[in-house]
Amino acid sequence: MKHLLSICDIRHQISPLLEIADKFKKNQMEENPLQGKTLAMIFEKSSTRTRISFEVGMNQLGGTGLYLSTDDLQIGRGEPISDTARAMSRYVDGIMIRASKHTDVIELAKNSTVPVINGLTDLEHPCQALADMQTIKEHKGNFKGKIVFAGDGNNVCNSLLLICAILGMDMAVACPVGYEPPAEIIKKATSMALESGAHLEITPDITSAVTDADVIYTDVWVSMGDESQIKERIESFKPYQVNEELMSMAREDAIFMHCLPAIRGQETTAEVIDGPQSVVWDQAENRLHAQKAILYSFLK
Ligand code: CP
Ligand code: NVA
Repeated sequence: MKHLLSICDIRHQISPLLEIADKFKKNQMEENPLQGKTLAMIFEKSSTRTRISFEVGMNQLGGTGLYLSTDDLQIGRGEPISDTARAMSRYVDGIMIRASKHTDVIELAKNSTVPVINGLTDLEHPCQALADMQTIKEHKGNFKGKIVFAGDGNNVCNSLLLICAILGMDMAVACPVGYEPPAEIIKKATSMALESGAHLEITPDITSAVTDADVIYTDVWVSMGDESQIKERIESFKPYQVNEELMSMAREDAIFMHCLPAIRGQETTAEVIDGPQSVVWDQAENRLHAQKAILYSFLK
């Protein structure tokens, strides 16, 4: 039994998972492989894509997705996460959780006898990273190019940096000083990049980072939980906005990516996200296919 808490947990399965995701997208997989199975979906934070794609995904696989808000669960009234994990494991075949603290998800997994899947924490967003690589493969054909992640060294950035290090894709994180990914993530990514040959860079210099970019990726400047820092964050991130001027400095065929939800006028502009280089809707769609591959592999 395995959990998916970090993208590193599926380090050796990424290529086969991407193949399965592609087959699900093309309707080439067996029907109802998860018939009779139930996925508990715990949400401590808001979600549109993750919630819908997991619920619809379970449905399409012949199983059931059970939406559970922490406001309604006894966790919200103080029941330990370890007890929740033990009880839940007696009812369901897998648990997907979106939580504020990554350490809570580790605690849940430690006490669960069914697979636990990370649907976003403060540290990582592994399901997003898998869907992102599916999208890059579709639009670029391979992982030989370079991604520039502009903005906050956050959960989405962390999983992307790790998956690039695993797959050998070059990546630059262009962020203001003080907003770099955590040291533990950089250390893990750097050590895996030694094996894969990925060139990784963390730099405050966005203009030089984008000159040879094949993919420009950004995310909100204020993640869920960072709301108290809105003012200083908007000020610090202003030079990192992905606008038409920045896009024009990258390779001519560069694509624009964003995990969504987006704020037009902050981390990107309407011209870019709604423009011809944007692949954000394919990216959102691929959450469904990539997660069906994850569910198939973990719950079957
Ligand atoms: N990208 C993503 O996880 O979106 P939601 O917050 O809508 O689930
Ligand atoms: N970094 C964002 C991603 C949302 C999908 C957040 O954590 O709020």
